[in-house]
Amino acid sequence: DLTPGPVNLRDFETAARDRLDPVYYDYFASGAQDELTVAANEEAFRRHSLVPRVLRGAGRPRLDVTVLGTPAAMPVLLAPTAFHRLAHPEGEPATARAAAAAGVIMIAAMLSTVTVEEIAATGATLWFQLYPQPDLAFTGSLIRRAEAAGCRALVVTADSPALGRNERGDRNDFHDLPAGIHCANMGENGHVRQVVLSPDISWEYLDRLRAMTSLPILLKGVLHPRDARLAVEHGVDGIVVSNHGGRQLDTTPASLDRLPLIAAEVGGRVPLLLDGGVRRGTDVVKALALGATAVAIGRPVLWGLATGGEEGVGRVLSLLRAELDNALTLCGAATPGEVTGDELGGILA
Ligand code: FNR
Repeated sequence: DLTPGPVNLRDFETAARDRLDPVYYDYFASGAQDELTVAANEEAFRRHSLVPRVLRGAGRPRLDVTVLGTPAAMPVLLAPTAFHRLAHPEGEPATARAAAAAGVIMIAAMLSTVTVEEIAATGATLWFQLYPQPDLAFTGSLIRRAEAAGCRALVVTADSPALGRNERGDRNDFHDLPAGIHCANMGENGHVRQVVLSPDISWEYLDRLRAMTSLPILLKGVLHPRDARLAVEHGVDGIVVSNHGGRQLDTTPASLDRLPLIAAEVGGRVPLLLDGGVRRGTDVVKALALGATAVAIGRPVLWGLATGGEEGVGRVLSLLRAELDNALTLCGAATPGEVTGDELGGILA
């Protein structure tokens, strides 16, 4: 029972912490090393202000958007996060049912604890996240499974040539999934394949992926404008500006702080998504104003799942939706698309 319950996304973290095994709480909450980037992501949003416009007669805002051909009820996606069954016994299908009910896009993680086919069976609108595996034949088979399951885009995570160094995990000696929970998509002839994070993956590999699928491809984990340019030159359809929620290279800047640079470099050729530290409807508006078409949320979804399963994720999404609706209304914006730095006089550094 969630009443009176959490009234914002940060409350959900507190509620989840009360319920979760502390080792799993740490796995979800933590970042790399000193967790400077984790803190920076949220802090960056606090440094920006919104300057509303008045008397625009904009009416109640419409929140729906279409991202790379996929319609969504609001410009908030579920970021790919691994191991949902550590948060709740039902795992990813509970998350997916909530996403479906809210009409939002869930980026299903390659490292899910339930297969992509079973997640898709919920009827949720899915994109599929891939850690590029050096074994191209196996990668190809994963892509074909995602396509057959109805995933509508491929999100290739580029910021993980190695695993970030997680000291909470080291302190907790958390290095293996508990018995009965495994990377369900990695199962093959009765055994589970090792996931490979490889520093050998290059732009050439991306070209191969591009040739393997006609799904839109987004590159996730871009922070450098030159890489954004290269991504466009290599034919990607979208970019996720992200530092992996501060879990990979510690001391990277906040993803929000990189967004304007990347938006300037990309010049509207492909849509930009942003994740990292989005906790408020006003955060979503700030990301839109700085050049994102949509944002994604990672940890808040896990907090919802841990707190109340499908219902908990549903509450997280409906709270954020209500906040976004309110923020757009108060800004005088009729749609997410019309939030720009210019139009709203928007954002003061
Ligand atoms: C992640 N993230 C992630 N990203 C990815 O591409 N593949 C993955 O398997 C995972 N797994 C994962 C697990 C957990 C527990 C977290 C918290 C994050 C990163 C995720 O997609 C996203 O970039 C961040 O979570 C966004 O930051 P916030 O919203 O958590 O601050």
